[in-house]
Amino acid sequence: MSRRILVTSALPYANGSIHLGHLVEYIQTDIWVRFQRARGHEVYYVCADDAHGTAIMLKAEDRGITPEDLIAEVSAEHQRDFADFHIAFDQYHSTHSPENRHYAELIYRRNRDKGHIDTASVRQFYDPERQLFLADRFIKGECPSCHAKDQYGDSCEQCGATYSPTDLIQPYSTISGATPILRDSDHYFFRLPDFREMLESWTRGGHLQQEVSNKLDEWFEAGLNPWDISRDAPYFGFAIPDTTDKYFYVWLDAPIGYMASFDALCQRTGMNFSDWWSPESHAELYHFIGKDIVYFHALFWPAMLHGADFRLPNGVFAHGFLTVNGTKMSKSRGTFIKARTYLDHLNPEALRYYFAAKLSDRVEDIDLNLEDFIARVNSDLVGKIVNIASRCAGFLFKGFNNQLIAVQHPLVDSLMQAGTAIADSYEERQFSRAIRDIMALADRVNQWLDQEKPWSLAKVDPLNPHIQEVCSISLECYRQLITYLAPVIPKLAQASADFLNIGDLSWDARMTPLGNHTLNPFKPLFQRIDPKQIEAILESSRESLNTPLETTTPPKSTHTAVSDAATLDLIDIDTFRKLDLRVGTIKTAEHVKGADKLLRLMVDLGEENPRQIFAGIRQAYDQPETLVGLSVVVVANLAPRTMKFGVSEGMVLAAGPGGKDIFLIHPDHGALPGMKVQ
Ligand code: 2FM
Ligand code: ZN
Repeated sequence: MSRRILVTSALPYANGSIHLGHLVEYIQTDIWVRFQRARGHEVYYVCADDAHGTAIMLKAEDRGITPEDLIAEVSAEHQRDFADFHIAFDQYHSTHSPENRHYAELIYRRNRDKGHIDTASVRQFYDPERQLFLADRFIKGECPSCHAKDQYGDSCEQCGATYSPTDLIQPYSTISGATPILRDSDHYFFRLPDFREMLESWTRGGHLQQEVSNKLDEWFEAGLNPWDISRDAPYFGFAIPDTTDKYFYVWLDAPIGYMASFDALCQRTGMNFSDWWSPESHAELYHFIGKDIVYFHALFWPAMLHGADFRLPNGVFAHGFLTVNGTKMSKSRGTFIKARTYLDHLNPEALRYYFAAKLSDRVEDIDLNLEDFIARVNSDLVGKIVNIASRCAGFLFKGFNNQLIAVQHPLVDSLMQAGTAIADSYEERQFSRAIRDIMALADRVNQWLDQEKPWSLAKVDPLNPHIQEVCSISLECYRQLITYLAPVIPKLAQASADFLNIGDLSWDARMTPLGNHTLNPFKPLFQRIDPKQIEAILESSRESLNTPLETTTPPKSTHTAVSDAATLDLIDIDTFRKLDLRVGTIKTAEHVKGADKLLRLMVDLGEENPRQIFAGIRQAYDQPETLVGLSVVVVANLAPRTMKFGVSEGMVLAAGPGGKDIFLIHPDHGALPGMKVQ
């Protein structure tokens, strides 16, 4: 039975480029959508740019353009990147659109009129120079706990303490540098607790992954709070109805962008919006999102929809973050790779294939290991799949006028039958399982071809009819494989369909054998990846010290964990010379009670007494005793810092993005305590 399915991916912010972290989600969704289409369902895939908020307003100001110009520019860039990765949206819209204003106001009004909106006064930091209220991430100051400087308004990166921005010592605005002042302002709150019962039943109703439901249970236990949905002017967004200087918080109208985009599609095609969004709708609705935005999609969004008499989603599917070579994407390592940089050097289908081979229905992070990426794409797509076609094409061209003959063979039957299980895997978003099964089938075809050895027969007699039979069987198998892979590698599948001279790659079409059939001339289908291409991508992505520095704080990145190691402040040589770097030997190393990131080290610098140094390396060195005896590099002339746990008398040097991935720098044998590091 044909289904009607509406699918969305999260809306990317309109102030930054698409990178490989984002692409995990768009590729995952696009594969699922293409699969559903191949099954003959009526499917629409919509998305939009998430265009509102302070960060976009400030970025436009910095560039001296209007927010409208900025979002138009970014939207064009995003759409080019998506199209080149073969992400086939039916509609790509913007949250800064008349449709979105309409639905944001409607959803707000309906909720308000049912009593689900409250107002309350909120005291918040305000930047008196830029004249705007400051979100936590635009405030920095000294950590009230360990006194580390330049910590964000919500938590300390040094000691891990969490606090409110008003607890910071000597706070400053990261926008202007001014000292913020406290100001009161009325805010609008969405009464999330009103929906507790509905949400508890919906979140346990099979719409979410198990891990996500478990997380939600924790949130229910902790208690739901009213949600602040307003922001004060100046703000780039939609004014809240019946107010003069209050705007909808960007996250209020972001998911409504799914509706707005679909509405724009309806206007273009004549479809009926409410057939899809009314509570009686039989259409299915699925949202693909990153694990960091579950709260918005599994709590606020269904509650808002319910309060406004719209239907709820059938499923919210969260994926994990992308790591590259096992760690966070990093600008200094060149692994923070933009979509365009990748496209400048490599075929998008290589990445689509690799992601598919890694993706499952779980919320786990996935790793792009670049060596494995090269090996896997070359061995699977080139060595196993395309190889079948290229091995057979020549014999059929030379000896048989590109003619296939009708064949029956158990190998063909078994490949056809495998389609049911492969379809189940796609349906359940078990893409890695689907790929594993497809590649096992490809192995069987190649093994069979190796046994039949048409090349040996051709040496003796290129017109031997058995050659034509073997190649016809192999290419029928190839057609099955390409049908199964088409959602993942649509262009390679299309090029293969052109060679096979078939018009239809739908799941059902594969069951009708090709029979006596003429092929089109064979053209090379897929290039192997050369490791040099990967090097070129890393090289173009690596930010050097000369890269212009960001002028505004970038928004907290979503979908991926990013290390910003390359956003460095330059120092001159005289400043560098002020550093007194010395070799030290670790005498003792131990955990610090109450600090899950710190180790207490006693380090011998050749002085009378060893120094006590607190180092934020516990996650990487959780067995501190293994460090005893190790030589390290110490900043010996760092002013002592009083921390909650005692005085820290220096700093040990380590490299890496942080967390588990931090590596102490240790000099070779022969370096003695107290030696100057040159
Ligand atoms: O996290 C993000 O990147 C948001 N721009 C996603 C919004 S998804 C939806 F709610 F619009
Ligand atoms: Zn701290």
